[in-house]
Amino acid sequence: MSTAITVRAPAKINLHLGVGAPREDGFHPLATVYQAIGLYDDLEVVAAPGWRVEMEVADHVSAEALPTRSGDNIIDRAARLLVELHGVEVHGHVHVRKEIPIAGGLAGGSADAAAALVALDRFWDLGTSDDDLLRLAADLGSDVPFSLIGGTALGTGRGEIVESVPDTGTWWWVVVPSSEGMSTPAVYRHFDELSPEAPAEPSSAGDVLEALACGDVERLAEVMRNDLEMAACDLRPELAELIVNGEEAGALRGMVTGSGPTVVFLCEDGPHAREVAGALRDQGTLVTLVVNGPVAGAHLVETL
Ligand code: C5P
Repeated sequence: MSTAITVRAPAKINLHLGVGAPREDGFHPLATVYQAIGLYDDLEVVAAPGWRVEMEVADHVSAEALPTRSGDNIIDRAARLLVELHGVEVHGHVHVRKEIPIAGGLAGGSADAAAALVALDRFWDLGTSDDDLLRLAADLGSDVPFSLIGGTALGTGRGEIVESVPDTGTWWWVVVPSSEGMSTPAVYRHFDELSPEAPAEPSSAGDVLEALACGDVERLAEVMRNDLEMAACDLRPELAELIVNGEEAGALRGMVTGSGPTVVFLCEDGPHAREVAGALRDQGTLVTLVVNGPVAGAHLVETL
């Protein structure tokens, strides 16, 4: 048995986010292309009596939206699902170091849930099958299965049905988080208000999949699409301004990711991304993170 385990899980961005009219269960049918990027939360679990979860945030992460009540955060829920499946007792102290902005459209909470599933499965020596892990992940949230598999993937259903797709590129991004998070349900609700006639089927991700398969950055810049962008920018007009500023600074394309408010800028390569980030900072943008993708999903980085 290990005495400590650390699992790292990445943030995601959406290169295509096609959204259809709401289903009967209230969720929206999606056709989305996820990419895992080099921005991570690390979750460590150590042997200790009882159960405790604590979080620490990096300087660029605003702690305001951190869950305050213990016992019902997404890590507690992940632990409970494993306990129910295997009939074991919950124990251990969990410490999460968050680099992924909270409520930013980057699936930070989903990364923590995926990291908790992988870490606790190993720590409690449960041997959960991949299929069961994916099923529990889907119960925890629409983006959690992707946080497990990482890389680049097509997401369908409400986003929880994931399938890896060919991606021959290394893509460079400038990620600009906002100091204040945004509620995902509120952005979906605003999408419904703005698009009462949305078609039942989400728009196809075909063009983005093609650009990824050939590693064509100019083409990817042209075809990226996020159907939630209009709703996010309507709620936060400064996001549209930020996108224009980044594109004027030379980014190939700027787009809101997920339900926002984080904006990502696609760049030609690493040096170009650093140049765009520098220009944005000169214009007064406080936080710019230069990262690349795709990277691996939730994975073990240390066992003691
Ligand atoms: O699945 P998850 O817990 O991440 O979803 C959070 C909220 O986002 C849902 O309660 C719903 O309001 C909205 N959502 C949606 N359609 C999706 C995914 C999420 O309407 N496909």
